Amino acid sequence: MYVWPCAVVLAQYLWFHRRALPGKAVLEIGAGVSLPGILAAKCGAEVILSDSSELPHCLEICRQSCWMNNLPQVDVIGLTWGHISQDLLAVPPQDIILASDVFFEPEDFEDILSTMYFLMQKNPKVQIWSTYQVRSADWSLTALLYKWDMKCVRIPLESFDADKEDIAESALPGRHTVEMLIISLGKASELCL
Ligand SMILES: C[S@@+](CC[C@H](N)C(=O)[O-])C[C@H]1O[C@@H](n2cnc3c(N)ncnc32)[C@H](O)[C@@H]1O
Repeated sequence: MYVWPCAVVLAQYLWFHRRALPGKAVLEIGAGVSLPGILAAKCGAEVILSDSSELPHCLEICRQSCWMNNLPQVDVIGLTWGHISQDLLAVPPQDIILASDVFFEPEDFEDILSTMYFLMQKNPKVQIWSTYQVRSADWSLTALLYKWDMKCVRIPLESFDADKEDIAESALPGRHTVEMLIISLGKASELCL
């Protein structure tokens, strides 16, 4: 499995905001190798990692990342976007949801937002910190965000030193176009994606 450029950009955002993380409840969805979630846990957040319950090898990678980083306290759960499962019902209210490179297949976009919406009902103040790799100019979240009563703010990469091809000694961002978004409940005040 692979760390995606989006994960490096989101990890950089977390590092910039590391002083806000101790004690925060943080859930990563579509975590894969889980770089952002692992960094959040190292910075003192109470982290749950998740990936699709239908992809046990991805969940195993989440567990390995915890093991390799000496983080036995981090829970790993199966959360498939758009499914209301026992695991989703049992997730406690979260302060921050991390979502790195989950918006890559437009047919999944609404399932992802419905899972986020469900979690927002547990804590309406939850913020979704998401990085998105621009792969097609045709893709848009705007209508779906409106439908699900969510708003989105684009965070300029230069505001957290991520407007570079190399971030924290990783060349992964390279020339990929990555956007950093904060999604929350409420009516849209600006267009994004
Ligand atoms: C492009 S990878 C990003 C991985 C990681 N967040 C990163 O940025 O390095 C997409 C991730 O979404 C997960 N995923 C794909 N479909 C999913 C679904 N329906 N429900 C939950 N997770 C899913 C994959 O297993 C994979 O870990």
